[in-house]
Amino acid sequence: MKLTLPELRRETPLVMVTAYDYPGAQQAERAGMDLILVGDSLGNVVLGYDSTAPVTLGDIIHHARAVRRGAPDTFLVADLPFGTYHTGLQDAMRAAVKIIQDTGADAVKLEGASPEVLEAIKVLSRNGIPVMAHLGLTPQTEVSLGGRKVQGRDEAGAQKILEAARAVEDAGAFAVVLEVIPARLARLITERAGIPTIGIGAGPHCDGQVLVYHDVLGVSDQDKKIAKRYAELGQLATEALRTYADDVRSKVFPAKENSFIIKDEVLDKLY
Ligand code: KIV
Ligand code: NA
Repeated sequence: MKLTLPELRRETPLVMVTAYDYPGAQQAERAGMDLILVGDSLGNVVLGYDSTAPVTLGDIIHHARAVRRGAPDTFLVADLPFGTYHTGLQDAMRAAVKIIQDTGADAVKLEGASPEVLEAIKVLSRNGIPVMAHLGLTPQTEVSLGGRKVQGRDEAGAQKILEAARAVEDAGAFAVVLEVIPARLARLITERAGIPTIGIGAGPHCDGQVLVYHDVLGVSDQDKKIAKRYAELGQLATEALRTYADDVRSKVFPAKENSFIIKDEVLDKLY
């Protein structure tokens, strides 16, 4: 059953995973995920870009529609792509409404806590669109953060994330993703926050955890400190495809049981 917003506040720990297509969404729902995220990590893990910045609103909508079909009964969050919520409140509202209407997502996620982003969180949540915030290592702006590295390690950086967490909550966010920050900073934020914190690379003290589908299943080549591989599906897939190729070349496949028959008397007429 799909969790409601009040239940999401109470029922911790929350487990979230990304999904980008119909079968992935089915697997996530059958596995009992509390939330599914159509993340703009789509750019990296599915579309082959080296960042999330090129992902468009159209990309997110295309994939979120498939995910919703595969997981009709799970709370679905879709990322607002880079650039769709920075150019004014009307644009942010329009992009979020389009995602909700075209895909059936329950909420949107956006990154950061700049004055523009805080205003967007306020306007969206005030008008009935639940917003999940995302702080720490925010991939859409990783270039200006100096690359993919731990955020909030020094006092100034940690203070900034603490204040940002307070600010997104005050603006109306219903939950906040904390990405790649020290575990004890995430604990402090979690203790102080009135909304659930969902960590990725943020230690065990958050109210929930999120991972990227391809990292959980070992599809990506990369081994990441922040993730745990629960299977080696990438390797398994390559081996299966290689066996298929071998079978065709050695005439093992298709076999009799994969083929259809025609009656002799019909065939005889053709000769
Ligand atoms: O796009 C994504 O997958 C995300 C999660 C890692 C939180 O934003
Ligand atoms: Na994202």
